[in-house]
Amino acid sequence: MNVITVELGARSYPIYLGEGVLPELKRVLQGMGVGGAVAIVTDTNVGPLYAEQTEALVREAGLKPVTCVMEAGEAGKRLAQIDFLCGEFLAGGLDRSSCVVALGGGVVGDVAGFAAASFMRGIPFVQIPTTIVAQVDSSVGGKTAVNHASGKNIIGAFHQPSAVIIDMTLLATLPDRELKAGLAEAIKHGIIADEGLFAHLESNAPAILNKDLAALELPIRRSCEIKGAVVAADEREGGVRANLNYGHTFGHGIEAATAYSRFLHGEAVALGMCAAGFLSLDLGLVGIDFLERQRACLAAYGLPTAWSEIPVDATLAAMKHDKKVRAGTMKFVVADRMGHVVHRTDVTEAQARAALESLRTEG
Ligand SMILES: NC(=O)c1ccc[n+]([C@@H]2O[C@H](COP(=O)([O-])OP(=O)(O)OC[C@H]3O[C@@H](n4cnc5c(N)ncnc54)[C@H](O)[C@@H]3O)[C@@H](O)[C@H]2O)c1
Ligand SMILES: [Zn+2]
Repeated sequence: MNVITVELGARSYPIYLGEGVLPELKRVLQGMGVGGAVAIVTDTNVGPLYAEQTEALVREAGLKPVTCVMEAGEAGKRLAQIDFLCGEFLAGGLDRSSCVVALGGGVVGDVAGFAAASFMRGIPFVQIPTTIVAQVDSSVGGKTAVNHASGKNIIGAFHQPSAVIIDMTLLATLPDRELKAGLAEAIKHGIIADEGLFAHLESNAPAILNKDLAALELPIRRSCEIKGAVVAADEREGGVRANLNYGHTFGHGIEAATAYSRFLHGEAVALGMCAAGFLSLDLGLVGIDFLERQRACLAAYGLPTAWSEIPVDATLAAMKHDKKVRAGTMKFVVADRMGHVVHRTDVTEAQARAALESLRTEG
């Protein structure tokens, strides 16, 4: 088992990573000194697969499990869910000494985390991520949220978990499309911070797509280390945390322009990284070899690298809206070599448009 620490002073926490490490939950709960009831928040897909094992571990820790099942999928990420969960917590006997266990993908983690941040002004929570997205990205970093009708992740809080338990064996049941989309985020971590990670992903695609845990371990571990270090340096996204947004300014635009229905997040990010790579080339920061290497790696994971019908105007409009709401200027994360990115605020609309247009043709 690997133990990675996210260094946040008094709020530092461990990430336990390995095969069959779910039983660590018992020790984690005992170490947290929680009392009484523990809420296990999960969804309608993950609950039937893994809730029973998790409940047994809570009981072994001398605590009472209260399992709360949300509908699976992004639609469940709404404020009404927090109201529902808090009702379940109260009915199950949770109080200020209790804790929440998030058992599921990024949706469950974000919702359960926000419920834990809000219930009785905040109780601790533990993440047990069950998708690649959650294992390499969302379970680490303390961002919790639900969506609002006007946008994603509008209502939320920073609430760091007390521990993250990543049991890679839980991925056995993950659908292939979810696996591939999640790996886009691991590829992103390689591009922004670690050429070695990128090279591993580049040369082990068949094994990784086959869910060979020996090959998957490094991408998950390095992703947690990279994200953990970025979060430790910049918990609330004033500076370096924005590196994690490589491919996301374009990707979010594509998701919004397609009403979040055509692509999974990781698929939109794959396209977004191709656009960000083109922009990096256009700015003279990288050569064509960088762009081709990135494209080939994404393609090896069955991720989209071109989209002939991309609605460029709608995507640009969504990107501008996204940025207007948040920051005022369009800020782009671009690569200046494999394993390193920089921020640019001097990108013209014509350059952003050209980057999106580049997605019309493959390669
Ligand atoms: N907080 C953050 O920093 C952060 C970062 C990235 C993404 N996110 C959020 O994460 C969400 C996406 O997460 P996701 O991709 O994990 O989606 P998800 O939670 O919807 O999971 C994807 C699907 O896989 C199913 N599933 C999960 N684990 C499974 C397993 N082991 N076996 C079988 N089925 C399984 C789920 O029920 C769901 O249908 C988005 O809402 C996004 O905004 C948050
Ligand atoms: Zn992402």
